[in-house]
Amino acid sequence: MHVKVIMSSLVLALLVGCGHDGDKNIDDEVSVLISSYALTGDPSTNRTIPSINSPKAQLGMKLFYTKGLGGDKDSACVTCHHPVLGGGDNLSLSVGVGAVIEDLLGEGRLHDASSAHYDGFAPVPRNAPSTLNIALWDSVLFWDGRVQSITPNAGENGSVGGIRTPDSAFGFVDLSAGANLTVAQARFPVTSPEEMKGFVFEAGNSNDVLRTALATRFVSQTITNTWQNEFDSVYGTNSVNFPNIVDAIGEYERSQVFVNTPWKAYVQGDTSAISTEAKHGAKLFFSSYEAGGMNCVMCHSGDFFTDESFHVAAMPQVGRGKGDGVEDDFGRMRESSDSVDKYAFRTPTLLNVEMTGPWGHAGGYTSLRAVVTHMVNPDTAVPGYDLSQLDSMVKTTNTASNTALALAQLNANRTAGISPHQSVIATDGQIDNLVEFLKTLTDPCTKDRNCLSPWIPDNLSGPDSLQLNAVDQASSLL
Ligand code: HEC
Ligand code: HEC
Repeated sequence: MHVKVIMSSLVLALLVGCGHDGDKNIDDEVSVLISSYALTGDPSTNRTIPSINSPKAQLGMKLFYTKGLGGDKDSACVTCHHPVLGGGDNLSLSVGVGAVIEDLLGEGRLHDASSAHYDGFAPVPRNAPSTLNIALWDSVLFWDGRVQSITPNAGENGSVGGIRTPDSAFGFVDLSAGANLTVAQARFPVTSPEEMKGFVFEAGNSNDVLRTALATRFVSQTITNTWQNEFDSVYGTNSVNFPNIVDAIGEYERSQVFVNTPWKAYVQGDTSAISTEAKHGAKLFFSSYEAGGMNCVMCHSGDFFTDESFHVAAMPQVGRGKGDGVEDDFGRMRESSDSVDKYAFRTPTLLNVEMTGPWGHAGGYTSLRAVVTHMVNPDTAVPGYDLSQLDSMVKTTNTASNTALALAQLNANRTAGISPHQSVIATDGQIDNLVEFLKTLTDPCTKDRNCLSPWIPDNLSGPDSLQLNAVDQASSLL
């Protein structure tokens, strides 16, 4: 017995020793890559990030949760961007207005058969991206970048030099855009019939008339409320107006910075912060094709893991599309009118990517492993795409043909030397390692309801009794 114990501790010591030696090599290799890309692990430095406890962010949180900004008072920002759901809605494609149960978020949120324009499929054509870390974008918001900083500089969130929005022509400043990209974006969900406006409220009127009408609701007491008091204490007397509404919402969103990841700890020197598998995944992610890597870093670059630029990835085109082709979505080309941008979408950040599924511009993938497999080799992923992963509200009538067109575009771009994205034949183990690496980009707070509680209002009665009281399918409070 005694001998056995000694034996096993010897074996253990040997194993640990071996692992350590192995890890030392991979640590050295990853360290060289980290230095060559000058990574710090923290994309939030040199930025002005509001505290969630600031008066503006607190006001913004109540506005983010109010269905009073929905035309029919049945949809709020949080409907599609809940902190517990990774800052999204956990759906491939969103259901905004006309849901069967207004306050039910995530899986099981269905479009009501009696609501306007019902056809059995999710009304919104793209996947809702995360609001988490929205303050870290400096160049473009939306999948097609239609909110865009004219002179993007690192660390500014578009606050200097003007912003283009759908209210101004491509390349031109929208003088009403507001303080930064986040505020500029917040002016638009309320104008979308499917997301928030509905089909009756202010129908046919301009965006600005609609926005004023929403603010007027709060002042005129069309909805019984105490918003005036709330605004007075933050913005001064008679300050309920649409620019202040979106300013406060923007500050709430910008306070949602979640970057304390195991990867950050690793980059900053804690070699035990991530697993050996994740280290091998990192090596693949940051190494060039020539060096046997996957070159993901070419587009998912920097500490925020995005070049904020547009590329064709031939991600599955599910859903009803944006009115291009037959239920298709031409992505960035819709904005730039440049055929080189056909099927190009903005490179997503990969921070907290584990929490922000489904993935892709239309939510075509419902597992992280599947989307990683696609990015490694779109040529084999597209013909092998499994429709059964989607929920029944995702329209797939033209998915195969449209996605094949996007893949053909990717290949044309490769031939023309425009796309450096190669298809790599990877082993299952390599894919596993990449997935393990991506999971080190999750801030544990995003998985913890208690840790997220500062971003979820306590008093759900709120200033207008229209605060969305989120439940999930299990009827637990989100
Ligand atoms: C019905 C669901 C829905 C509602 C409600 C909604 N959004 Fe979104 N949101 C989306 C979708 C879908 C997109 C992506 C659209 C696109 O890129 O074309 C998006 C994009 C965004 C983005 C850009 C994220 C990025 O990374 O570029 C932000 C920020 C955002 N929404 C904030 C808001 C705010 C603020 C509100 C309320 C005023 C709101 N959303 C209401 C679904 C919704
Ligand atoms: C040529 C640029 C490019 C390269 C190389 C690249 N990506 Fe991407 N990635 C993108 C773009 C663009 C998208 C969004 C495409 C879409 O939805 O249409 C994306 C989407 C993703 C997503 C989904 C994220 C989300 O929030 O929906 C993941 C995960 C991802 N990439 C991981 C990787 C990995 C891992 C690699 C390396 C194997 C890689 N990417 C290589 C540009 C790139």
